[in-house]
Amino acid sequence: MAETAGVTPTRRDFLFIATGAVGAVGAAALAWPFINQMNPDASTLALSSVEVDVGQVAEGQSITVKWRGKPIFIRHRTPQEIEEAKAVALSALVDPVARNNNLPLDAPATDENRAAVGKEAWLVMIGICTHLGCVPLGNSGDYDGWFCPCHGSHYDSAGRIRRGPAPENMHIPAYSFISDTTIRIG
Ligand code: FES
Repeated sequence: MAETAGVTPTRRDFLFIATGAVGAVGAAALAWPFINQMNPDASTLALSSVEVDVGQVAEGQSITVKWRGKPIFIRHRTPQEIEEAKAVALSALVDPVARNNNLPLDAPATDENRAAVGKEAWLVMIGICTHLGCVPLGNSGDYDGWFCPCHGSHYDSAGRIRRGPAPENMHIPAYSFISDTTIRIG
């Protein structure tokens, strides 16, 4: 079963909650713990997939959607972010594995293997720090990516862990573009 989530970004980085027919927009970092306490009903948790229209997400913007109770970061990367991620040697990575559920388990963590197939500007990943599970902040940290303030983990513009206690790159869920601007997660 799939739900369609229409998105109208009004901020550089915001939270969109796809819970059935109801959408909510708020500040991502502060809103998530609160929303987690709202005990989504069983029908929400049971959704096997979510469809998200990203046609309104401009370059440099991110949205967060909820899928199976988890925050999913969808980022429309800038050319600079892509180039920075491509320039990183695999040997420089803390975690050399892509952690991409759309690829073999041992796929290397190249930028190509982290980004959407054929759409390198798009990054879709589970927005949970691989250290102890906090939700990292976007447009933050020392690598033009995400920063987890809980214990200081820095992720780069491909969501790969670069410094701090997190052991793995942020994980990438199974997803695909089902049209030029629609992503189905799950
Ligand atoms: S939970 Fe993110 S650094 Fe510890």
